[in-house]
Amino acid sequence: MTGSKTLFIKTYGCQMNVYDSERMAEAMAAEGYRLTDAPEGADMVLLNTCHIREKAAEKVYSELGRIRKLAEAKRAVGGEMLVGVAGCVAQAEGEEMLRRSKLVDLVVGPQALHRLPDLARRARAGERGLVDTDFPEDDKFAAPRPKARRAPAAFLTVQEGCDKFCSFCVVPYTRGAEISRPAAPLIEEARDLAERGVVELTLLGQNVNAWRGAAPDGEGRWTLARLIRALAEIKGIERIRYTTSHPNDMDEDLIAAHGEEPKLMPYLHLPVQAGSDRVLKAMNRRHTAAAYLRLVERIRAARPDIALSGDFIVGFPGETEAEFEETLALVREARYAQAYSFRYSPRPGTPAAELPPVPADEAAERLQRLQALLGAQQAAFQQATVGRRLPVLLEKPGRETGQMVGRSPYLQAVHMQADAGMAGRIVEAEIVGAGPNSLAGRLAG
Ligand code: SAH
Ligand code: SF4
Ligand code: F3S
Repeated sequence: MTGSKTLFIKTYGCQMNVYDSERMAEAMAAEGYRLTDAPEGADMVLLNTCHIREKAAEKVYSELGRIRKLAEAKRAVGGEMLVGVAGCVAQAEGEEMLRRSKLVDLVVGPQALHRLPDLARRARAGERGLVDTDFPEDDKFAAPRPKARRAPAAFLTVQEGCDKFCSFCVVPYTRGAEISRPAAPLIEEARDLAERGVVELTLLGQNVNAWRGAAPDGEGRWTLARLIRALAEIKGIERIRYTTSHPNDMDEDLIAAHGEEPKLMPYLHLPVQAGSDRVLKAMNRRHTAAAYLRLVERIRAARPDIALSGDFIVGFPGETEAEFEETLALVREARYAQAYSFRYSPRPGTPAAELPPVPADEAAERLQRLQALLGAQQAAFQQATVGRRLPVLLEKPGRETGQMVGRSPYLQAVHMQADAGMAGRIVEAEIVGAGPNSLAGRLAG
């Protein structure tokens, strides 16, 4: 990307923010901004923020503190550093952000990100109080994407927002109502990515398996499985993943696709949050622990080797020790390859934030126990791949010279000796070692 001005973007939160940051960088490139990987001296700094837990949201203000010094240094030499806040904190706080930090020139919500170039222009011209947290009718995905060569693995947002309103969660408020992009522009974007070197597509949505986009011929709607089958036909696309899924939207069609579509990778992020039915009900999850376990069984019947991933919240208001142990029991039964677990964090405006909290030390102790169990399951899953031959998509140079890092079908990072020119190729690797977060491989054959 060329341009006379520099833009630094820091991305927090989920993969949807990663995708949005890419789109914002592209929109700003058309304005003459090229990306830089350090904030020092940048003409513009953009924080693409996350509101999911208190810690995530507070990070933004500490980062703004650091940027203040850089902005002052830039001003001291007669320059100007534009500071923008995008993403879910921007959406949740809106004008409040401008009050809390005088440094911020503009605030733009995730659904209005295509308006960033206009906001930046106006801020440069001296306009103040720029906040756009609308949910505009015009399509934030409509802008054409540049034709530059891409890394082998790419994200593609297919669905946004959430109508589930789990009682702990801010997403329905920050991202708005659930919308599915129509199939036709998605297929077009995927084709375009493939032409630019993308081999692996990860379809994104807060509830990606609830995707029901308009069919390309305008006749009715497609399921996610149907979309996956269509994307699998694109020349160059060899691997497809999707994340994040809600248990209640896991339909027969999608389960069957895991057994039938060879390009659909054997990895599924299927958060359950907790193992107690009382807690699940209080969370407004609308499924029981038993229903989740039955679902996992059905998925394994279709794809026995699937790597199961999940999210857990411990210390939800009112969670007892016995209820927490039900979470441990569910984990033992479900057997995860990998998982994320969090201490419950009360979020402003959500129903659960009104409930009496579990004492912090109890919640912390439970989190430790859960993480010990999940860690052991992850280690066992990693270890079980040692000695196997796995196809690895080589993505980028590794830490050591002559090394490349790629991904196994199960989304495990694999380090191996390979030529940098092999990026984008799927090679057969013999797995020779396993650590908690990555595997060591050797080119086979
Ligand atoms: N749409 C996805 C994930 C949303 S956010 C889903 O439904 O699964 C990612 C994860 O953050 C959630 O799965 C949940 O485990 C966690 N999370 C969300 N709100 C939280 C809160 N208030 N406190 C702690 N963890 C939370
Ligand atoms: Fe949040 Fe629940 Fe929606 Fe996931 S399904 S984004 S946890 S409200
Ligand atoms: Fe965070 Fe917003 Fe994603 S709150 S997890 S960045 S949808």
